[in-house]
Amino acid sequence: MVNLGDARSSKRVESLLPGTSTVRHRPFPLAPSLQQGAYENMYRKSIEESQQYWSGRASELLHWYKKWDSILEGDFTSPEIKWFAGAELNASYNCLDRHLEMGRRNKAALIWQGEREQEVRVFTYQMLHSEVCRFANILKKKGVKKGDCVSIYLPMIPELVVAMLASARIGAVHSVVFSGFSSASLLTRVKDCGSKVLITSDAVFRAGRAIPLKPNADEVLEECDHVTSCIVVRRGGRDVSMTEGRDTWWSDEMAAEDVDLLCEPVKMSSDDTLFALYTSGSTGKPKKVMHTTGGYLTYALHTSKLVFDLQEDDIFWCTADIGWMTGHSYIVYGPLGLGTTVVMYEGMPLYPEPDRFWWIVEKFRISIFYTAPTVIRALMYFGNGPVEKHDISSLRLLGSVGEPINPEAWHWYHEYVGGKQLPILDTWWQTETGGIMVSPLPDTVPLKPGSAVQPLPGIEIDIVNASGEKTEVNEVGRLLIKKPWPGMLKEQNRDSGSIYGKDGYDTGDGALYDEDGYVWMMGRVDDVINVEGQRIGTAEVESALLTHRSVAEAAVVGKPDSLKGQAIYAYVTLNRNVEQTEELLRQLREHVCEKIGSIASPDTIQYVTGLPKTRSGKIMRRILKKIAADEHESFGDISTLADPSLLADLVEGKKHIHDEKTSTGA
Ligand code: WT7
Repeated sequence: MVNLGDARSSKRVESLLPGTSTVRHRPFPLAPSLQQGAYENMYRKSIEESQQYWSGRASELLHWYKKWDSILEGDFTSPEIKWFAGAELNASYNCLDRHLEMGRRNKAALIWQGEREQEVRVFTYQMLHSEVCRFANILKKKGVKKGDCVSIYLPMIPELVVAMLASARIGAVHSVVFSGFSSASLLTRVKDCGSKVLITSDAVFRAGRAIPLKPNADEVLEECDHVTSCIVVRRGGRDVSMTEGRDTWWSDEMAAEDVDLLCEPVKMSSDDTLFALYTSGSTGKPKKVMHTTGGYLTYALHTSKLVFDLQEDDIFWCTADIGWMTGHSYIVYGPLGLGTTVVMYEGMPLYPEPDRFWWIVEKFRISIFYTAPTVIRALMYFGNGPVEKHDISSLRLLGSVGEPINPEAWHWYHEYVGGKQLPILDTWWQTETGGIMVSPLPDTVPLKPGSAVQPLPGIEIDIVNASGEKTEVNEVGRLLIKKPWPGMLKEQNRDSGSIYGKDGYDTGDGALYDEDGYVWMMGRVDDVINVEGQRIGTAEVESALLTHRSVAEAAVVGKPDSLKGQAIYAYVTLNRNVEQTEELLRQLREHVCEKIGSIASPDTIQYVTGLPKTRSGKIMRRILKKIAADEHESFGDISTLADPSLLADLVEGKKHIHDEKTSTGA
């Protein structure tokens, strides 16, 4: 059983049917099909006639060179599942070309705001189309062919979007690596993909400083012969070393006279891979998730339209980094596929001032704003002053993603950003699902703060207990997706154990149904933790710690944190004759930064003399989680614990940790 935690105990059942009054915000149009209880009908039909539902969505939303022979082939028990088999399309064509003929030629596709106030770049659909075509031709010149992989290690600048769509245009598979990752993380990902080209920048701007990025790429290039070209965007004005014959500047490449402005999109099969993205799983290795062209794109557009109700004049801002899945689906493929104007921001929420986000909302008249609970909590900390400084009346819908939103943050978001009227769409999904799976739709049902409400049309779920039976009301179980959906990840090796079981896809998340049939997401039930809305496998952090010469053993757990959701808590035993010093703690954190990235660096490290293990040698994380959370009144069943005398030491050691970032423990 999973602890219900605060979200549930402070849950308030409220009726907040949005859109009924219009004091501060302009009223928003209802999607006509959703009025008058039509939602239930739509859901029922989408399940009963699911194939027709999906083929309808795919036809309505996308341009296909050739339609499918079958809508869905296979199920969770068959060796392969294929969506829209036999069909052909191109993602870049769908996000660009077709809009030119649909009256959107001079509509803004991408509005980019740099960290520095005066830096703004706007690309109309026509301009973005030319940039993408030009860069696609450069990739071709570099020898990139259909099916080859292009790694993209860039900060939040327009070139990132251009590089993705250019890869998609020529049928290359892009693999975007978050620019906050270390060179070691980049190396694993570039190697695993066998990329031909790496696109990076000289530096990335963070809080006014240009932090070098190219040196990280250089370390990777040294070890990866398969990367024959590295294209570097000049962003931070840093000196970089360029290797003749391999490294070139983006601007020089784009200015070259032999680069055409047009590039025919390559016809891709529906099942061809559009991109790969790595995420954390429960093993020590990052997990490669691949998405298909037809299924994924259908799902990204479908959910963008349904959940965010995107209209022609909307200005959509998703604050995620494109290095994560949220940015792929809700900055690039979903909204651009629908011909929406998207805003992309280079910087962070609190720099230079905590009103930065509201300043952006006002400046570009954002109508739909999609962010993460960790951001809301960070902004909430500064009170209402920064929000009230700005006219944010252009907003009509608010979204949340990445972790359960705690009711306090929900209420603050609703009251101060939403003027007590705007619906908050708490959207649950994962890298694996391609797009939103569980979320309220605007104007369909009353909301409950902290609940993701219901599965979207076309999505069937089950919540099951350890014996695989459906849970009772208010009982936490695992969330399963019962039927294939177009956005599902493409499985690579069924042989090495499938992630799809006969009962469906196991999400690894705990969930419950309340008495009104609302879904509440309760966090991960596996060894994955969620820090600031980012998924981190505890095994990955442990592996990183174990590569340090002083460390003998390490166990990492999540600890509740009022700002980050969860914080990283590491228990470490040192090798013989190594002293437990403050300096070593600093080194260990730095070591994890180098191995993974600063996001994975432990907030707390406790030195211990031993880890609690079962007699068969398995670390009992349940106990370690409790100690980290200061819940040591009862450890539950400890009959299998090999050395119970350890417990007192562990608890005692925890008590001596004062300053999270510096102190030793035992
Ligand atoms: C995990 C997925 C979020 C999509 C992009 C990449 C947690 C996400 C919610 C939510 C509760 C949430 C889950 C999930 N999560 N959204 N609205 N309520 N939990 O996400 O890195 O693949 O992480 O994030 O635990 O499994 P990801």
